[in-house]
Amino acid sequence: MIKHIGIINGSIREKSYSAAIAKAIRPFFPENMVVTEIQINDLPLFNPDFDKDSQERPESYARFRQDVKKQDAIIFITPEYNRTIPAALKNAIEVGSRPTTDIAFNGKPVLIMTQSSGHISGFGANHHLRQALVFLNAIAMPQPEVYLAEIHNVVTKDGEFLKADTAAFLKSVIHNFLGFATRLVG
Ligand SMILES: Cc1cc2nc3c(=O)[nH]c(=O)nc-3n(C[C@H](O)[C@H](O)[C@H](O)COP(=O)(O)O)c2cc1C
Repeated sequence: MIKHIGIINGSIREKSYSAAIAKAIRPFFPENMVVTEIQINDLPLFNPDFDKDSQERPESYARFRQDVKKQDAIIFITPEYNRTIPAALKNAIEVGSRPTTDIAFNGKPVLIMTQSSGHISGFGANHHLRQALVFLNAIAMPQPEVYLAEIHNVVTKDGEFLKADTAAFLKSVIHNFLGFATRLVG
């Protein structure tokens, strides 16, 4: 039975809309589930040299990898930067991709949600993230896809939904995702 859900927010700025969505969807999880936000803002820029035995590794790398591995499933909520994922999120993917013999994301069911202030809703970021996760053997839910346009009209920065239909949609997405994750990992 899945119990631990990790949320990775691709935006490291204060008061981000991605964080607001993470807060707004909390009530959609069963009470006995543990939902944890996994920090990425303390990860130094990835350098493969850190993986040499002779090198001292940043402590936050081990913390991040453990935080991911502890989860039964992962939800990414991210904006798009320059038609792809923000550098901070890509950096976290790199950190989570090593060592190749023990990839933190290996086999994890994943839900991807992208959002933007405009109308394209982070489509590019959504699919670039899917592409990277394939290589890490994470399993992104195919449907329903989540693209949130005009995010300022969807949620307040304090995490209150402004649109009942989007709230209902995301509630059904979480329900679907928990079913998807349960089928995959039991
Ligand atoms: C450097 C930078 C690049 C951006 N590039 C895009 C983009 O390619 N497509 C898009 O829809 N929005 C783009 N945006 C806008 C953000 O994705 C949008 O404002 C988003 O809602 C911010 O999310 P956040 O509040 O979680 O940080 C960009 C913002 C920044 C700072």
